[in-house]
Amino acid sequence: MKELLVVPQIDSYETFAAFAAAAKIGEGDLILTNEYIYDPLMKAENLSCRYIFQEKYGAGEPTDRMVDSILAEMNREKCLRVFAIGGGTILDIGKILTLKDAENVDALYERSELEKGRELYLIPTTCGTGSEMTNISIVNRTRKGTKMGLTSPAMFADHAVLIPEFLRTLPYYVFATSSIDALIHGIEAYLSPNSTSYTDMYGAAAIEIILSGYCRIAREGQDARFAESEAYLRASNYAGIAFGNAGCAAVHAMSYALGAKYHVPHGESNYQFLTSVLRKYQEKKPKGKLERLNALLLRALKQDSRTDVEAEDVADGIAALERLLAAILKPKAMKEYGAVQEDIPEFAASTVANQQRLLKNNYVELSLEEIQELYQERLNG
Ligand SMILES: NC(=O)c1ccc[n+]([C@@H]2O[C@H](COP(=O)([O-])OP(=O)(O)OC[C@H]3O[C@@H](n4cnc5c(N)ncnc54)[C@H](O)[C@@H]3O)[C@@H](O)[C@H]2O)c1
Ligand SMILES: [Fe+2]
Repeated sequence: MKELLVVPQIDSYETFAAFAAAAKIGEGDLILTNEYIYDPLMKAENLSCRYIFQEKYGAGEPTDRMVDSILAEMNREKCLRVFAIGGGTILDIGKILTLKDAENVDALYERSELEKGRELYLIPTTCGTGSEMTNISIVNRTRKGTKMGLTSPAMFADHAVLIPEFLRTLPYYVFATSSIDALIHGIEAYLSPNSTSYTDMYGAAAIEIILSGYCRIAREGQDARFAESEAYLRASNYAGIAFGNAGCAAVHAMSYALGAKYHVPHGESNYQFLTSVLRKYQEKKPKGKLERLNALLLRALKQDSRTDVEAEDVADGIAALERLLAAILKPKAMKEYGAVQEDIPEFAASTVANQQRLLKNNYVELSLEEIQELYQERLNG
């Protein structure tokens, strides 16, 4: 049984300038980023590499159309190294740009094997996806109506680079949704049947760091996050190692249908289902790993002044978690994103049809009916 695989070398630098000098970024290099990340920190370096700004090819998270137009534009023959500097959107597109002879997304899904064509550096500027550590690229396949993951060893980065300076410009909302995503990576990996003592170590560390940071935000306010940028970046990276090995499960699986249809950002659509799925697990199999997660949550949430761990009602770690998360990001009902009753059977069927990659990692098996019930429960909040 595989215990742990960590492929990219992990590097860290305090500033982009120090990293650019060390990596000797210049001719033959392509930086894929967003202009508003480039302006404050990269522009002044006057590097002689090529830049592509993702937002010129479409708004929001990656779609097949967006990726196809970037592939057409990138001038593959002249590009030796790709530096993807941004959130999960940018990192996931960067993984496709690293592939040899990639021309369009649909064709890549048809290939039996993918090959790397150039070196890849992944530099996260959100503290959520952990995508810099995984070999999966998640794209909204608009022709199929859902988000799907393309996976290949060829899409592992050669270097994952942590530069906390980038988090300085991250808006609070993106901080909140991306770090909730990282927290969920830690939790789903911890409960996964494929977890090992190694993935547990990374998953638990990620959960503890993020929840301790959240307790501080609940006490001191949103700006308290800036003092801990490096810790959040590391937690997200640890969670990436955990779920890259043990896998994510039902929360991620269920989030994709909602995210794809109503353009709900990844972390927020995951948030939608986290505690409902955990409660369903508790109902079906309260003993075992879930008890250890409960203890872990309660230990981490001790710092939340509203949580009295001695009191009977908060022996429930899930309730304490829900209370703290509500202080970080206001929970919404699915209907607030536009979802309607007719979506419920459709979402459940699409999840079962398209997300077996994730559902197979569930803590306990969930039937089509149970998945439908979970969606139903969230429709009106
Ligand atoms: N491949 C994986 O392993 C994996 C894992 C989880 C999520 N994902 C994918 O990642 C995507 C979500 O990524 P995300 O949550 O990082 O959000 P994102 O990449 O979509 O970014 C959200 C917004 O924040 C902006 N932004 C990012 N960094 C910034 C910064 N430092 N300063 C100012 N603005 C900044 C972006 O330009 C964008 O507008 C989804 O498509 C999801 O499916 C991939
Ligand atoms: Fe995620």
